Amino acid sequence: MTLEELTAAFQKLYKGQPRIYRAPGRVNLIGEHTDYNEGFVMPAAINFSTFVAITKRDDQVLKIHSDIFKEEAEIDLAQDATPGRKHWSDYPLGVAIKLKEAGHNISGANLLVHGEVPFGSGLSSSAAIEVSTGLALLDISGVKIDRLKLAKICQKAENEFVGARTGLMDQFIACFGKADHAVMLDCRSLESRALPLPDDVKLVVCNTMVKHELASSEYNARREQCEEGVRILSQHLPKVNSLRDVTPNDVERFRAELGEVVFKRCLHVTAENYRVLKAADALRDRDLKTFGKLMYESHQSLRDDYEVSYKELDVMVDLAKPIEGVFGARMTGGGFGGCTINLVSVDAVDEFTQTIKNGYAEATGKHAEVYVCSTADGAERVQ
Ligand code: GLA
Repeated sequence: MTLEELTAAFQKLYKGQPRIYRAPGRVNLIGEHTDYNEGFVMPAAINFSTFVAITKRDDQVLKIHSDIFKEEAEIDLAQDATPGRKHWSDYPLGVAIKLKEAGHNISGANLLVHGEVPFGSGLSSSAAIEVSTGLALLDISGVKIDRLKLAKICQKAENEFVGARTGLMDQFIACFGKADHAVMLDCRSLESRALPLPDDVKLVVCNTMVKHELASSEYNARREQCEEGVRILSQHLPKVNSLRDVTPNDVERFRAELGEVVFKRCLHVTAENYRVLKAADALRDRDLKTFGKLMYESHQSLRDDYEVSYKELDVMVDLAKPIEGVFGARMTGGGFGGCTINLVSVDAVDEFTQTIKNGYAEATGKHAEVYVCSTADGAERVQ
């Protein structure tokens, strides 16, 4: 949909000339389920965005129409709203409410949301709608806040209003993405570094088309298991405040006390942090072979230790591995379905796409979508 078409669609619903904002979805190259453990992540914003067309209202009412769900949600910001209704509008409404709670004077508005980020596929359509809505509401209300604050408020909306206890990675990259770069974020200090991506490889995303229905409850369960690990380990290692302070050796040492499940969760997180650091070095040295090897290791660990992969994701990674020109492949995002991210040499992309589509159909009877992505900048006003 072009901006003109979006404007026309908006004007069919509401009056006035809208401003339009966008925020991107993301892939995470490596560093999965580490963000809420104060660890390292390495996402990149991609060229799928959520667009929000908006005009200001004179009252405190928010009307939000989604062109995907073909329905409108409405709330009065002057009244209390019920969280966790398991409705798509929890995301944008949650942001408006959390902005208000943080003391920002947000106006009522009419919004039309147009989402390009495949929904429920682990490419973070949720952060894209949160951040684009947040930016739009702030801007038409004439309120200026820094982007890190916006990212944190959007995360709060997801944690407290939607009810998913996610980390900051997705909202951060939706705000701070940089075209042609991945961004390495230290989720403890919140310092980040843009890492240039080589131009002879493509980030290819393979969508298993399996949606992560269990994702939210299983995600929260993983988070609790990590917290349990910290609780146990900190009794022996007093300096431990989060799994960031723990090494895989520590985890091995207290294996019996942790119990098998918590042991495996902690092992994944602590080893994954080292993989991200090594991956950043490999990217700096343009050593894609090492980078790819770390991606495979990450997938294996998510499959066997963190247990958030799905059969379809494993099939996709196994199909990618032997293809000429593929450096690495792994599931990306929270897991339980969704997508894999593949690092593929530019020359091999066509062959890769065909082989994956055919192989996946043969192995699962399902049709995969393959997106050859480019990387993108973070959220912005586009009209
Ligand atoms: C989801 C969450 C992120 C992160 C990933 C797993 O995308 O929103 O905060 O925890 O899962 O790495």
